[in-house]
Amino acid sequence: MFPVFVLSCRFSCFRVNDMAYHFLATTREGSVEYLTLNRPDVRNAFNELVIAELTEWALATRDAAGRHELRAAVIAGAGKTFCAGADVTWMSKTVSYTEEENVRDAMAAARMFGAINSLPLAVIARIHGAALGGGAGLASVCDIVVSADDATFGFTEVKLGIIPAMISPFALAKIGPSAARELFLTGARFSAARAKEIGLVHDIVPAADLDAAVSRHLQEILTAGPEAIAAAKALIPQVWDLSVDEARHVTARAIAARRVSREGQEGLRAFLEKRRPTWHAGPIEHEGHRGHKE
Ligand code: COA
Repeated sequence: MFPVFVLSCRFSCFRVNDMAYHFLATTREGSVEYLTLNRPDVRNAFNELVIAELTEWALATRDAAGRHELRAAVIAGAGKTFCAGADVTWMSKTVSYTEEENVRDAMAAARMFGAINSLPLAVIARIHGAALGGGAGLASVCDIVVSADDATFGFTEVKLGIIPAMISPFALAKIGPSAARELFLTGARFSAARAKEIGLVHDIVPAADLDAAVSRHLQEILTAGPEAIAAAKALIPQVWDLSVDEARHVTARAIAARRVSREGQEGLRAFLEKRRPTWHAGPIEHEGHRGHKE
């Protein structure tokens, strides 16, 4: 992994929240972090520097959530497209790597997707244009995917003679093996409507309404208990492949921990007292994705 400080001054920097990025723009509004992939000239394709920065961002976001500073993150792309996946020019250099060097290289991307996937807050993807290859992978590690109705999706790797490897655990968890057998094998591009049908996308709106749709989801998130959100998110992979008998023990412990927590007690008490719980945020004004320029 390339630590951020290694990135030389060849590119102008965004400095927000004490983090300096070359290919990401971040802004924070209250407890919401807005992240924009910012390499529009190559349709926000990932190279090793973008991967390093996204990993750094995910770690910083995890820490901020742990300090109760953040409750949600929104990921978008600058320019015409959300994300065109791996940077093909960068990937073409990997042909000169040994197989072991390629494993090391691929592990950095796997770590990045894993770090975003397990963030202990709600992550929304705001998709316009296209989400291809690793871009569809990035959508797969988000909790709520809001897409423009004219966006294009695809696990296009086989068209380049490679495979959707590091994104596969996350994509499979969203679309299941049946859709993956068709879409991973053909590399065919598909519509937002199809993406919704197979579980990759949750909400489709006209492109002009994307920010309003994102705000609606944020509004829901900001009325829910932040620790409960993190616990609910952690519960899903814990329970997913357990038998009903095995799950009983995990789920009983999980709900017991919430019931005795300060947040859980406040939520139940607030309901009975017919008032808003302390964490309940007011309405969100939407002003467009922060830092997002199309
Ligand atoms: N890696 C590197 N460069 C890429 C790229 C990628 N994945 N995707 C796009 N680019 C570059 C193009 O080469 C082009 O560069 P140029 O201006 O020097 O010619 C520039 O981005 C714009 O691409 P273009 O195709 O003209 O933009 P578009 O808006 O018409 O289409 C896409 C956008 C994303 C639909 C299209 O670029 C595309 O299909 N890209 C390939 C995506 C892919 O297969 N990804 C999987 C990788 S495993």
